Amino acid sequence: MQLHRYARPLGASLLGLALLAAHAHAQNTLTRANGAPVGDNQNSQTAGPAGPALLQDAQLVEKLQHFGRERIPERVVHARGTGVHGQFVSAGDFSELTAASLFGAAGKTTPVFVRFSTVIHPSGSPETLRDPRGFATKFYTDQGNWDLVGNNLPVFFIRDAIKFPDMVHSLKPSPVTNRQDPNRYFDFFSHVPEATHMLTWVYSDNGTPASYRTMDGFGVHAFKFVNAKGEVHYVKFHWKSRQGIRNLSAKEAEAVQGKDFNNLTHDLYDAIAAKNYPAWDLYVQVLKPEQLSGFAFDPQDATKVWPNVPETKLGTMTLDRVPANFFQETEQAAFAPVRMVPGIEASEDRLLQGRLFSYADTQTYRLGVNNQQLPINRPRVPVRAYHQDGAMNAGATDSDVNYQPSETAGAYADDARYKASQLPLSGTTQQQRIARTMNFEQAGELYRSLSPQQKSNLIANLAGDLGQVKDSRVRDTMLSYFYKADADYGARIAKAVGARPEQIERLARAL
Ligand code: HEM
Repeated sequence: MQLHRYARPLGASLLGLALLAAHAHAQNTLTRANGAPVGDNQNSQTAGPAGPALLQDAQLVEKLQHFGRERIPERVVHARGTGVHGQFVSAGDFSELTAASLFGAAGKTTPVFVRFSTVIHPSGSPETLRDPRGFATKFYTDQGNWDLVGNNLPVFFIRDAIKFPDMVHSLKPSPVTNRQDPNRYFDFFSHVPEATHMLTWVYSDNGTPASYRTMDGFGVHAFKFVNAKGEVHYVKFHWKSRQGIRNLSAKEAEAVQGKDFNNLTHDLYDAIAAKNYPAWDLYVQVLKPEQLSGFAFDPQDATKVWPNVPETKLGTMTLDRVPANFFQETEQAAFAPVRMVPGIEASEDRLLQGRLFSYADTQTYRLGVNNQQLPINRPRVPVRAYHQDGAMNAGATDSDVNYQPSETAGAYADDARYKASQLPLSGTTQQQRIARTMNFEQAGELYRSLSPQQKSNLIANLAGDLGQVKDSRVRDTMLSYFYKADADYGARIAKAVGARPEQIERLARAL
């Protein structure tokens, strides 16, 4: 007979072992949460054959209590997702660019956990629905965890975090009908011309990927690479799928949904079970700080790509292991853009700046303040923070020094080598939109880059939703944005929804 797990802490004493062995239950004996064996899991304790159930039935009470607490809040966005483990291998030594140790030598391998997701639709919703897809990567580096929390599309709808809650409210189901409603989100977007570029991406077939394996990933924002000398470069990250890009048309997505609304999870799990491991190459675009002023748009605006800036390959990620338990790993995974490592810093992008706060904050609500201690989130290096206590603290701190600085031998000290880079500044505080908005040009370039079939799909997808908008001011304003991006683009959607072309042209001229 094998000792059950609870024997371990007492295992040092031979007498203890002998006693435990005498009482130990078989290895597969069901236990309660306190480890005690369960005698009957089918029949509640009752007061005789006809009497009520007894409160003393610890197994009955514990099961019902635990069951009633199984749900935690789903993520406020990106609730539906799939996680997978793998590793990232650096393609070289990039220390000239960044002190980030994971990029320090060719062949250097860093474990990763990736979570792919949809954005707006709730946990359990069909994976076939139109949406950007999340592409969040946690690198467990030897200098702590770096979370690159990106999407499958290169830009975003807005450029300032202060708009994010309103945008998500408009895209989520109506508080009255609990249904998603194009009247609501186009009402919002008619005030956000900078969204034209991202809307063009989302309404193209890229809004319905055929597989998580066949989409790219983007960091979207500018970040900073900082080398050991403190030199700063602005960078954008791009995961290029080695499987190529493959999307579904709206019709194909609908057909798949009828048969299998977990299609993206199935595809990923099946590929990994078949040892057909998906891989992505990580590329970076690099700009010197003085180059930021040389664009017609603001390169720190998350609604823009950086055209004609060459990409350098940093390495390759391969995903090869699905989680043993969905909830414990995928659901409890906490990705936060603020979690960076020395050599990688945030840019001044005001959308990113809001994200630096938002994720770690919401995770203290969704998972609790000690969520970084969970096995899926725990760094693979020692954590020597002086954070104290908090709910569900599973730490093992045993020093009475929980403050810094201290003269005590072994007390932790900060290290000036890891100070943040310095940003030159001048001016006053302000509340103003950015200077170089360039809201429409890149949307037009994207439209013109599409094949005739892709263009037709985009027009049909947009017309399907815009055609439901009852307020003609909202509809026509949206149409004027697409027209401003490209006259053919705007005119074709206008025709499809029965709007007056002269009116759209007039509105577009005024933009
Ligand atoms: C100011 C703008 C944004 C805010 C305030 C915001 C906020 C949030 C919040 C609160 C979550 C849930 C986090 C959790 O419960 O663990 C989340 C998830 C996520 N967001 Fe954002 N978001 C913003 C923009 C973006 C952008 C621009 C991207 C892509 C570049 C993005 C990608 C993601 C991804 C991939 C997840 C899911 C992470 C996971 O798989 O757990 N978000 N976002």
